[in-house]
Amino acid sequence: MDWNERFAASGPGEPGPPGVLVGRMDLLPTTGRALDVACGRGTVAVWLAQRGLTVDAVDAAPAGLALGRELAAREGVTVHWVEADLDEGLPVTGGYDVVVCQRFRDPALYRPLAGLLAPGGVLVVTVLSVVGDAGGRFRAGPGELRAAFADLDVLVDEEGGGEAHLVARLD
Ligand SMILES: C[S@@+](CC[C@H](N)C(=O)[O-])C[C@H]1O[C@@H](n2cnc3c(N)ncnc32)[C@H](O)[C@@H]1O
Repeated sequence: MDWNERFAASGPGEPGPPGVLVGRMDLLPTTGRALDVACGRGTVAVWLAQRGLTVDAVDAAPAGLALGRELAAREGVTVHWVEADLDEGLPVTGGYDVVVCQRFRDPALYRPLAGLLAPGGVLVVTVLSVVGDAGGRFRAGPGELRAAFADLDVLVDEEGGGEAHLVARLD
């Protein structure tokens, strides 16, 4: 999929939280550092900045980052946008109070993502899942997220409708 082409054909989105946090906003802090991995158009990154966090946002697609910059300017918040290919690893170092990764699945990054958390930091991951879907090689198998982050304090673990969500804290 060419994400640049897709983003170039769309406008900026609206700021908003990861879906799994709707009704659970109290799980996230309102201060500290946040990272949005594979941020796309930056709608979650901008929402995190509006919430009061200092936000870094990473994606490989310049067209997505441009839409994120446009949205941040419109909303009057600052986000540090980083253009980087995650296949080459994470381009940031840790101490994050919030790490979000939505709809970008790379199991090789699961441990490095957990390693970015500061003590008490919260990880919010959503991936495509075979649970409730016909399947496919890009989807997580049942229980993949819980197994990958078993050393964290798992606060939310949901699978169904072709998606898996995990919210977990580093104690
Ligand atoms: C399905 S979109 C999700 C965007 C955003 N997280 C969301 O939920 O709206 C997947 C994103 O992953 C990014 N991406 C895919 N492969 C990547 C890579 N190797 N390095 C960095 N970003 C990548 C794409 O550019 C795209 O923005």
